[in-house]
Amino acid sequence: MKERILVTGGTGYIGSHTVVELQNAGYEVVIIDNLSNSSADVVDNIEKVTGIRPAFEKLDCLDYDGLDGVFAKYAGIKAIIHFAASKAVGESVQKPLLYYRNNLGSLINLLELMPKHGVEGIVFSSSCTVYGQPDQLPVTEEAPIKKAESPYGNTKQINEEIIRDTVASGAPIRAILLRYFNPIGAHPTALLGELPNGVPQNLVPYLTQTAIGIREKLSVFGDDYDTPDGSCIRDFINVVDLAKAHVVAIGRMLADKQDEKVEVFNIGTGNGVSVLELINTFEKATGVKLNYQIVGRRAGDIEKVWANPERANKVLGWKAGTSLEDTLRSAWNWQLKLRERGIQ
Ligand code: UD1
Repeated sequence: MKERILVTGGTGYIGSHTVVELQNAGYEVVIIDNLSNSSADVVDNIEKVTGIRPAFEKLDCLDYDGLDGVFAKYAGIKAIIHFAASKAVGESVQKPLLYYRNNLGSLINLLELMPKHGVEGIVFSSSCTVYGQPDQLPVTEEAPIKKAESPYGNTKQINEEIIRDTVASGAPIRAILLRYFNPIGAHPTALLGELPNGVPQNLVPYLTQTAIGIREKLSVFGDDYDTPDGSCIRDFINVVDLAKAHVVAIGRMLADKQDEKVEVFNIGTGNGVSVLELINTFEKATGVKLNYQIVGRRAGDIEKVWANPERANKVLGWKAGTSLEDTLRSAWNWQLKLRERGIQ
């Protein structure tokens, strides 16, 4: 019998890649997604990639009764991977209550329903944003949590605490918190990738849209940071590598191998790459020249952050393997495919 995993936000960017890797690893997947930032044809594309069609229910995680019904319909769900959340940093400053309601309410509903339906564990999508600007780099999981820069970042911090408090209260569940660095790239088949609504806020979608001519120019936000070339530094992690970290985490959780009931792992490459380096690498890897200009800093940006991923390397036996060149090529191929499909 295949073990059944519920993936919330499973038609989204990271969610869809994770569903593929779960199915490839022999799990049975049930997706729920409210399609607020993705579309149902992602399910078709998952099926094209894996040959298996995951179960899909269009549902908002704020719908407690609806969720209850999904757990009843797909009896025996062993674990949840919880991606479903609002994730635009700028929007969260404008609409904090939307972010608090959505991101906190969804998790609370799931945690309340898990014991009732015998769900053993939850893997939670957290973020390196919980570290703010770390005092020491590369940043380890022990680094202090800094005051969040945005309501979005705050929801990640609070959700980590909600999970810890729930487990500490004696709830019969386990949890793994994965703190992602900057996920980029697309599936090598170019059937899955990031499809932002409207004008992209994140670097790589904006970059590929500029390269293909949808946007005129990429603005590089600041070249006066205290970094070798003055632009910000991030740890850009390939989305398929990131997806695989979830599969390993689920395996560890279901085999009851966790050292603690709540474990936390940095999921990054361990390499800091500047925005300007990334642009250069994109141009070299694809042969496409990019129109960009340096502009002023973007409010709220962290100067530099990259992971110490040793704990994930050692304990999970997971390591990011894809080169930045291949990752950026995959992002470009995805953008080309979107044009072919007449989407963007
Ligand atoms: C942010 C969040 C992160 C969140 C992610 C999801 C913070 C500190 N980080 O990541 O938690 O998970 O968004 O959306 O809140 N850049 C440009 N030009 C652009 C776009 C970006 O130069 O047009 C630069 C930024 O200034 C930054 C880097 O590229 O230095 C990466 O930016 P972005 O892709 O938006 O990710 P983060 O801000 O790192």
